[in-house]
Amino acid sequence: MTRGAIVVGASSGIGEALARRLAADGYEVGLAARRTDRLRAIGEALPTRAYVATMDVTETRTAREAFFELADAMDRVDLVVVSAGTGALNRDLEWGPERETIAVNVDGFTAIATAAIEFFEERAGSEAGRDAPDGDLDGHLVGISSVASRFGNPGAPAYNASKAFVNNYLRGLRHRQHARSADIAITTVEPGFVDTDMAMGENLFWMASPETAAAQIHRAIENRRRHVYVTRRWRLIAWLFALLPESIARRLLT
Ligand SMILES: NC(=O)c1ccc[n+]([C@@H]2O[C@H](COP(=O)([O-])OP(=O)(O)OC[C@H]3O[C@@H](n4cnc5c(N)ncnc54)[C@H](OP(=O)(O)O)[C@@H]3O)[C@@H](O)[C@H]2O)c1
Repeated sequence: MTRGAIVVGASSGIGEALARRLAADGYEVGLAARRTDRLRAIGEALPTRAYVATMDVTETRTAREAFFELADAMDRVDLVVVSAGTGALNRDLEWGPERETIAVNVDGFTAIATAAIEFFEERAGSEAGRDAPDGDLDGHLVGISSVASRFGNPGAPAYNASKAFVNNYLRGLRHRQHARSADIAITTVEPGFVDTDMAMGENLFWMASPETAAAQIHRAIENRRRHVYVTRRWRLIAWLFALLPESIARRLLT
């Protein structure tokens, strides 16, 4: 049976590369973001059937409606990836960029994550869910967080804090799923630097291409991993910040 995936934030970067990778693996893909033209162009180039949904995740009510419409329009949805995210350097601590970051990375992320769980749980309780073969998951939710979640960032405080929210939210969902009958896998992805629009053309250390990131995320999905650093070496940075006293971390970051 053909598998289906929804990627929210599929119009560029990691989400786009992952959508392409999933389609190459036979998934039908639902592509969601604000830039409809880009989503259409990406969808037309995929080898499998593609569906397009325009949504601004900060408009949480309409974004959730668009998510459910998309999921209902697709033959199957086995996987939901929330890659939509934003971040801006904001050394002057203006409220606008901080608010936007929280709106997309916290409100928007949570709106879609809860919609995905609701969709999977409802299906698991339905006849189709009960007839599913043993060993099949009832669903798989993947959240794209960041290694930035591991430390406070003086230049973009809301970004790093929002990603810490994503990590902890997904951890909470994993604990919640453990006690429930629906078998839903939850994967947290923490990329380091990836060469996307978000990196703004800078040549940063240990920078991965979106294709490499997508390949590693795809493998983590196939292996039903709870957590993955992309690329793997970024776990060293996570460990470093876990061990460093705040005074030394501050000297490194300012
Ligand atoms: N690049 C990195 O170095 C890096 C490192 C760690 C984590 N990440 C995370 O990876 C994820 C993907 O980022 P990327 O690097 O691939 O950057 P990107 O190319 O800028 O992609 C961001 C995606 O999010 C979507 N998006 C942004 N605001 C949205 C909104 N209000 N509603 C719906 N979709 C929205 C964008 O689509 P539209 O503009 O069309 O809406 C786009 O598809 C983000 O969560 C980011 O925090 C990136």
